[in-house]
Amino acid sequence: MASDRMKTVLITGANPNGIGGGLAREFQKKGYRVFATSRDVSKLSEYAGTGIETLEMDVTILESIQTCRREVERRTEGKLDILINNAGRTCAQPALDQKQSDLREVMETNAIGPMNVTQAFGPLIIKSRGKIVMITTASSLTPAPFSAVYNASKAALNQYSESLRLEMVPFGVRVIRIFTGGVRTNLFRPSRMPNFKEDSSYKQCESNYLQVLEQVTPNMPSADDFALSVVPKIVDMKFSGDIWGGYLASATWFMLKIFPAWLMEYILSSQFGLSKVRY
Ligand SMILES: NC(=O)c1ccc[n+]([C@@H]2O[C@H](COP(=O)([O-])OP(=O)(O)OC[C@H]3O[C@@H](n4cnc5c(N)ncnc54)[C@H](OP(=O)(O)O)[C@@H]3O)[C@@H](O)[C@H]2O)c1
Repeated sequence: MASDRMKTVLITGANPNGIGGGLAREFQKKGYRVFATSRDVSKLSEYAGTGIETLEMDVTILESIQTCRREVERRTEGKLDILINNAGRTCAQPALDQKQSDLREVMETNAIGPMNVTQAFGPLIIKSRGKIVMITTASSLTPAPFSAVYNASKAALNQYSESLRLEMVPFGVRVIRIFTGGVRTNLFRPSRMPNFKEDSSYKQCESNYLQVLEQVTPNMPSADDFALSVVPKIVDMKFSGDIWGGYLASATWFMLKIFPAWLMEYILSSQFGLSKVRY
């Protein structure tokens, strides 16, 4: 007999203005029971009265992950259909100038966090033969000046997901990576903008970074439009594999197929003004 249980989805870092918010609204429209989580639930107050359920979870704190898992287990009788590892943070600094605190925070949030969340919620997903979705970035497959640590964190997530995908096959659980291109969110808010050290060898490139960002931002889809484009694939029972969505994601896929590495490196070095750097 078919179950009349409402399908469930849990999204990490689901602030209303970000990709997580777009996904939460789109899943709700599709009839899902949505658990939107944040490390600071007061940021989720906009969901009050919408039916979207809010929970606290800091993906870098094991105890917080466990508390959230117990609450979801209680509310859902131990089953979760879709887990979306969305929480993340950027960091724009030259690799050699990277601040220790940012290095650890980026790795903890973007790589170790999703691994711990997956471990905690995995048994709930297995019970429903559900899906685990990783929000990674298209740029994690290409060089990206001044994003070495961000890209390294997402590249770790990519590889983790590849192996996880195989380990989940016996349970009928699918692992989907979303290679995300540009989406207009607060990810690039002023506090996360490059702030190269005054004596950095790369100081002159900071303006190039900002210029690139200024040029591309108006072309990026909103979080709602992004969600509209990816959710149908996530919920498609026949779909497995990777999704490419957001500004320039498909172009990146195409360039990776046909461009030699040297050409990609040349374009990026010019864009980011690396030829201005002198020893
Ligand atoms: N926007 C893009 O162009 C783009 C491109 C490629 C990939 N992505 C990826 O998409 C995901 C969502 O980013 P976004 O663009 O929607 O930016 P965003 O609005 O800044 O969303 C990131 C979310 O992660 C949360 N977060 C940060 N640290 C956390 C922690 N320790 N525990 C729990 N939540 C935490 C943030 O919460 P706070 O508000 O509390 O910081 C925020 O809710 C990220 O993984 C990002 O790397 C975005």
